[in-house]
Amino acid sequence: MLYASSGTGAVEACLSSVVPHDKSVLIMNNGAYGKRMQQICDSYGISHIDYNIDWGEPVDCNMIETFLKQDKQDISHIAMVHHETTAGIMDDITAISRIASKFGVEVIIDAMSSFAGIPIDIKDSDIHYLIASANKCIQGMAGLSFVICKKKPLEKTKDIKSRNFYFNLYQNHVFFTKKHEMQFTPQSRSSTH
Ligand SMILES: Cc1ncc(COP(=O)(O)O)c(C=O)c1O
Repeated sequence: MLYASSGTGAVEACLSSVVPHDKSVLIMNNGAYGKRMQQICDSYGISHIDYNIDWGEPVDCNMIETFLKQDKQDISHIAMVHHETTAGIMDDITAISRIASKFGVEVIIDAMSSFAGIPIDIKDSDIHYLIASANKCIQGMAGLSFVICKKKPLEKTKDIKSRNFYFNLYQNHVFFTKKHEMQFTPQSRSSTH
């Protein structure tokens, strides 16, 4: 799904569209952009469990597994940053997604500063939502962001009573599929010729 917004908009679109009202998202925070996910959830009243790690430290897969093994039935999603731009930390999202999938937990990745720079095998991993924008490794214009979604989990979100409108992932998907264009006015490149 494409949005005429900076990258934060796509992170906001994803978090506010996919977490069911009776579930929580486990947010890995090891830098400014993990923290931003927590702020987005606070703004929308989305239940979140914060896994705060010292800045500059990677996410420890064993710790996640131990955490999920405890009675964490209400966690439906893990959200984390692939390359935490502020701390320069790269996390092993494939390994983490595989652990999450053992517990039936879906995975949301902010890959803003890694997508198109570092290979990410979405098909072969258990990542459900991958978020990025045009102006980092793609080196395109600012103001265009997107969420790559696996279809099945996205379809499931259609029954979540929406907390958003412009940003709703499922509604954007329906519109895009039917009309093959963005639901609202797209950003445009200023013409120089
Ligand atoms: C990992 C990460 N997430 C989110 C953002 C926020 O993107 P934007 O400033 O385009 O809203 C950035 C921006 O640098 C980032 O590096």
